[in-house]
Amino acid sequence: MTPLVGKDIVSAFDFERADLLRLFKLADGLRGEIEARGTLDYGRGKVMITAFFEPSTRTKISFQFAMVRLGGVVVDFIEEVSSLKKGETEEDTMRILDGYGPDVIVIRHSRPFFPHSVKDFVKAPILSGGDGTNEHPTQALLDVYTMWREFGRVDGLTVGVMGDLKYGRTIPSLSYMLTRFNDVTVYYIAPKQLQVREEILKKVEGRIEYHMIENVEDVIEKLDVLYVTRLQKERFEDPQEYERLKGTYVISRGLLERHGKIPVIMHPLPRVWEITTDVDDLPQAKYFEQARNGMYVRAALLKEVLGI
Ligand code: CP
Repeated sequence: MTPLVGKDIVSAFDFERADLLRLFKLADGLRGEIEARGTLDYGRGKVMITAFFEPSTRTKISFQFAMVRLGGVVVDFIEEVSSLKKGETEEDTMRILDGYGPDVIVIRHSRPFFPHSVKDFVKAPILSGGDGTNEHPTQALLDVYTMWREFGRVDGLTVGVMGDLKYGRTIPSLSYMLTRFNDVTVYYIAPKQLQVREEILKKVEGRIEYHMIENVEDVIEKLDVLYVTRLQKERFEDPQEYERLKGTYVISRGLLERHGKIPVIMHPLPRVWEITTDVDDLPQAKYFEQARNGMYVRAALLKEVLGI
């Protein structure tokens, strides 16, 4: 039995290094099996509920595909047509969903710590699909899995993370997961008002080497990976400041080709304008593959949590 059987996953810190390396190898194995056989038998008789209280394309669909490929069944809770519209609380909704006896529930919510707040009264294991600005632990799982596949290791990597580091939930989870590896350096690349939050830095202090900078071109040649996120216009008090900075946070083919080394380019997606589409054809552009990797590594996570 693996240590993840029946476990709630609400933070990237819920994974130990050994869990991550085991899940990555399992994901590669499942990838081969799914490519060969389409749908597998491991999940027969198991039921997963996806309870998303906030929009999603990748997280929800890749979890659903992962469960279907494992041979299990998916029940989708759809907020817009649910009795939430009649005033039922989200907590009662979770009690009701859990009462039907699912084997696992994947939750996304715009409120930080919502999955934490229900996990003690929900019997099924809870997997967080993102909670507000707090964390997105399974996004980090596919991010680090993608790095591991690219380089054959995570130890020793130098990763630049760029964009809205203050409010983006993928950044904390990625930072926390990278602490499970040795000699990782992270460059946080953002305008001062969108730099990474102090509470996140406190949790990674002494466990990764990090630097905070404003201009990606100052470090691009040192990076193994450039992880781009959206710069969020709505976060700027001064719209002129946003317009002034915007160009600095666009990764274009022209910018990349000005430098001697192009790092692996990743993005949790959705992309808006921060990576121009002429980057998509570069061999270093891995963001669509990264999204696809999510299905395999989430299948690995489901297999372990369900103990199948
Ligand atoms: N990366 C990510 O979480 O995408 P979705 O919001 O589409 O799930």
